[in-house]
Amino acid sequence: MYLPLALFELSIWIGLPAWIANATPVIFGGGRPIDGGRVLRDGHRILGYGKTIRGFVVGVVLGTLTGVAQYLSAPHILPVLGQFVTVSPDMEYVLFMTVPSAILLSIGALSGDLLGSFLKRRASIQSGNPSPMLDQLGFIIMALIFAYPFLQPQSVYVVILILTTLGIHWVSNALGYLLGLKEHPW
Ligand code: CTP
Ligand code: MG
Repeated sequence: MYLPLALFELSIWIGLPAWIANATPVIFGGGRPIDGGRVLRDGHRILGYGKTIRGFVVGVVLGTLTGVAQYLSAPHILPVLGQFVTVSPDMEYVLFMTVPSAILLSIGALSGDLLGSFLKRRASIQSGNPSPMLDQLGFIIMALIFAYPFLQPQSVYVVILILTTLGIHWVSNALGYLLGLKEHPW
């Protein structure tokens, strides 16, 4: 009965460092762009003004700190989880977030973000303009790939995490539109 909920929560748990790493540069980023303002032969910036050194560093630090908090709280969450479901070895495995996993999830998320930005510029999409699949999935997929040497969750967690990441973007964009913060609901 509680099992689907536990699987959902543990999938979100895996994604937390990557989500924090991806979201916090929007608040704390800015300043010198990573590409130094350079333009490639196609006439477009390598990455654009939206990808800054401070944003990258802040994202990695806060994503990693999120993982440290998860690592420290896992032993306390385990008995609580155990009151609702029989905690299987694979559930315990993903609950115990390790610091190397958190670092790689964070660096992977931000590298995925940069790769997405690079591909958008090559496709002549201006900085800040959306590219739905790249903006929403690039960071989470790269985060999982980077962390793979340390974090190999069963595919059910990966599928739920990817679908949830898509869902969160959809809800946050729709909310932003309804609140008048965004011009379009996508
Ligand atoms: N940001 C940053 N450094 C990063 C990533 C993001 O400073 N490494 C900040 C920038 O202020 C950026 C904002 O977060 O404008 C939103 O990030 P994002 O949507 O990822 O970038 P875009 O501005 O949309 O740029 P792009 O089109 O290249 O994706
Ligand atoms: Mg954007």
